[in-house]
Amino acid sequence: MRWRSAFFISCIGIEGALSAPGRLSQNTKYVDWKTFKAYGVNLGGWLVQESTIDTVWWDTYSGGAADEWGLYENLGSQCGSVLEMRYATWITTSDVDDADRAGVTLLRIPTTYAAWIKYPGSQLYSGNQKAYLKQIATYAIEKYDMHIILDIHGLPGGINGLTIGEADGHWNWFYNETNFDYSIQVVDAAISFIQESGYPESFTFEPMNEPADNEDLSTFGTPAALSDSGVAWVLKYIHAVLDHVGRVNKKIPVMFQGSFRGESYWSANFSSNANLVFDVHNYYFAGRTTTSANVPSYICSDAKATPGDGKFPTFVGEWSIQTVYNNTFALRERNLNVGLAAFHKYSHGGSYWTWKFSENATVDGQGTQADYWNYKYFVDNVYIHPESTWSIAERMYSTTTLAADCGHQKPFIAYLTTLLTVLTLRQIRLYAS
Ligand SMILES: *[C@@H]1O[C@H](CO)[C@@H](O)[C@H](O)[C@H]1NC(C)=O
Ligand SMILES: *[C@@H]1O[C@H](CO)[C@@H](O)[C@H](O)[C@H]1NC(C)=O
Ligand SMILES: *[C@@H]1O[C@H](CO)[C@@H](O)[C@H](O)[C@H]1NC(C)=O
Ligand SMILES: *[C@@H]1O[C@H](CO)[C@@H](O)[C@H](O)[C@H]1NC(C)=O
Repeated sequence: MRWRSAFFISCIGIEGALSAPGRLSQNTKYVDWKTFKAYGVNLGGWLVQESTIDTVWWDTYSGGAADEWGLYENLGSQCGSVLEMRYATWITTSDVDDADRAGVTLLRIPTTYAAWIKYPGSQLYSGNQKAYLKQIATYAIEKYDMHIILDIHGLPGGINGLTIGEADGHWNWFYNETNFDYSIQVVDAAISFIQESGYPESFTFEPMNEPADNEDLSTFGTPAALSDSGVAWVLKYIHAVLDHVGRVNKKIPVMFQGSFRGESYWSANFSSNANLVFDVHNYYFAGRTTTSANVPSYICSDAKATPGDGKFPTFVGEWSIQTVYNNTFALRERNLNVGLAAFHKYSHGGSYWTWKFSENATVDGQGTQADYWNYKYFVDNVYIHPESTWSIAERMYSTTTLAADCGHQKPFIAYLTTLLTVLTLRQIRLYAS
């Protein structure tokens, strides 16, 4: 364990200074993930801070810390004002307007548990997160009918040893009943936020992200990141979440990010009538011999595998196009549209990681991380075409390879195939009679 032994200077926030008016819901159309599909994006670096999302901001305020926990420690009494400023400025309604322009129909919004409860001993900041979340979500729902995935990214004690799970080196969420009980308080607070938002039908609730108890971080991103006992602990939590959500409003879907084990690994542990959707993360920047040139075939094979056994719908809650080798500017537009098309075809869509991203670390090949992770840049440069993903992909990729990798046929070929099948069947029936 790499617990920091430093002083814990807690960062005290003022709650409730902002408030958005509630409204009784007129529209009672809840999302059924079995039929719903979305083109989404994550609002990362807003209510959860990460060193790699906005390098300049991090360098200005973190005092060299590796994670949000350390950033607050270093900011001391300035913490509240710096964080409130971040919430007010990193994401605004004009970001929602820009996202809508590019066909975004869903926002996945990560939050820390500190947005929902005060957890004794935690350095994470509890301020006006809920008010800012409410303001942006309400705007996106009222103006554009967007769907919101409310994501609790980390949980008390730390759920994966990473900066995003609470803090670097924190794994204490697992097997710790105290932290389990606090997590359920987080869940109850988030459910009542959704229920009282005026638009409960516009939310999906995702109560955890990338749980992992294997302290060998080289397993991260693989099924081995979560041990068998970790699996049992995660299941105990998700069942409790389903129970708590069901007691308030069964129609609010629960999205389960099942670590790096797919839907088919978990599906037997849930009854088929559970209002459950799986979030599967598909990344290409590590672990495989990916290049900008070959990544469409990885994206398509992942897209085909993502639905698992089909018992529950799946959604690709995080993905990006940075590859391990030979990143190439000119292939970004194609690779983005292949991902948009393939995750929409085989799953229920996805949400890119992430809306704004400015990390300047260089990548293999051309450019920096920001060149491959910053969705707003892609939007501003008109790379995103949800209405014509396949034709963009076809124009920039060989049609035959697209058919082989992604099972995609040009519409007229698909039409001809269907026509021939129908005619042949009719012939057979004629001969038979
Ligand atoms: C990234 O930005 C920081 C300042 O924020 C600077 O010190 C560093 O040299 C930059 N790195 C690259 C690769 O440009
Ligand atoms: C539970 O986790 C907290 C910190 O997150 C820790 O202080 C406490 O000792 C843990 N309890 C047990 C029984 O390990
Ligand atoms: C999950 O389901 C599998 C297969 O039915 C079963 O073997 C396992 O015990 C279940 N796990 C838990 C924690 O209930
Ligand atoms: C990356 O590009 C270089 C130069 O074109 C090539 O030699 C190398 O094999 C490529 N790497 C991979 C993994 O394809």
